Amino acid sequence: MPWSCCSGRWPWRTAFPRSDRRTVRRRCWWWALWSGGRWSRGGDTGPGSCSPGTGSLCFPCCPVTGTSCTPRRYDVEQPVWSAPADDAATAAALQDRFAALLGQEPDGVWAAPGRVNVIGEHTDYNGGFALPMALPHRTYAAVRRREDGVLRLASAQRRGLWEGRVEDVRRDGVCGWPAYVAGVAAVLAERVGAEAVGVDVLVDGHVPVGAGLSSSAALSCSLAVALRDLVPGLSQMSVEDLVTACVRAENEVAGAATGGMDQTVSLRAVDGHLLLLDARDFTVVPVAWTLPQHEVLVVDTRAHHSLADGQYERRRRTCEAAAAALRLTSLRELSADRLDDADVRSVLAGIPDAPARVRHVVTENDRVLDLVAGLREQDASRVGALMTASHVSLRDDYEVSAVELDVAVEAALGAGAEGARMTGGGFGGSAIALVRREEVDVVAAAVLAAFVTAGLTPPVFLEAAPSRPAGRVL
Ligand code: GLA
Repeated sequence: MPWSCCSGRWPWRTAFPRSDRRTVRRRCWWWALWSGGRWSRGGDTGPGSCSPGTGSLCFPCCPVTGTSCTPRRYDVEQPVWSAPADDAATAAALQDRFAALLGQEPDGVWAAPGRVNVIGEHTDYNGGFALPMALPHRTYAAVRRREDGVLRLASAQRRGLWEGRVEDVRRDGVCGWPAYVAGVAAVLAERVGAEAVGVDVLVDGHVPVGAGLSSSAALSCSLAVALRDLVPGLSQMSVEDLVTACVRAENEVAGAATGGMDQTVSLRAVDGHLLLLDARDFTVVPVAWTLPQHEVLVVDTRAHHSLADGQYERRRRTCEAAAAALRLTSLRELSADRLDDADVRSVLAGIPDAPARVRHVVTENDRVLDLVAGLREQDASRVGALMTASHVSLRDDYEVSAVELDVAVEAALGAGAEGARMTGGGFGGSAIALVRREEVDVVAAAVLAAFVTAGLTPPVFLEAAPSRPAGRVL
């Protein structure tokens, strides 16, 4: 059987047919409980030879499959924190690296932030509300303009140099991270011609990838602001138009049918504020963070999430089908008190999954506005309760949570967080918790312990301070 209990994730999720998973999970839990006395902190990975007090956790092998395995060792007793990079130092180092790799100095270095969404999930493509904030974690792009319509793209995190012509990007297709950069050039070329947007780019990502923190939007937005500053014909572009270009790059070139929240906050964030986004017309209102005693703790579960795998798009299409069947432009026009109307129920009953999906979207829109009111009243417990209600709705109605996210939320709440929820598209990625400043370490330690106990890969933690938008660094 292709399974080892020491694989670091819930193996029953992938290795067993759905019908068998519950049984396997139950047996594994029994094994975990039964063997609890034998789990010990130790520094040795050899079977049965854990010794106390040396800073890792040893796990016994689950006998359900009979596979022999070495006890898993987690060298993490303390939570691991991801600190934002120092802007000036990172830009200077990237400039040098660019010159060494590409033979000339770049014209400058730009950066764009990732984001966490405090509430309002899967609402943007339904014309609804969201409340994201920019992270201090940014992606940096050293850029040099070319005159020949060629793109040469390199990453400090990946090997190799991607090279192609701007005019070929749409026709030939681009895979992986270069699509988010080449896509922006291809979309902006419609305004000024392909020759004008050829560039050499070296990116350095400090937004965790696959963590649901919009590393992809940070990537495309960093090039968008660079091209606006470097290409004369683009210098008059409004920030709203830049957002549209980045969304189109992601939808049309990278193949992710995302809704625009990420690019909006990356380009339009206001330092120290959340951004109340009304996705009906993409207007934004800065909302001050009024809870100085509290902060948003981000738990990057390291369960990789991807928006291009079909699950995200499937939900989007269900919502669009529901809106069309109800003869609405978008689900934004449906209020919560109409959810129980007989005519609405009978229309939604004809579309697979629609009743629950629509209930999430409609109630989530209300939660966003309630949370903004809670913030204005400095009511941390109301804010927290709404975050937790959002998680329950995403888990049960929208079905985009994951074991790792649920473990993080429950552990954070159990350790005293005011509220907690998954953030971003889901299916892995990150959870957030509203935590009193003095309890951040305690909550992080409790989440780490819950992950280790559940046999999950230990998470990484970030402190989310609402930060500034994309712009030039050097
Ligand atoms: C991803 C998408 C966003 C939004 C969220 C879910 O982050 O990029 O547009 O739909 O998922 O709220």
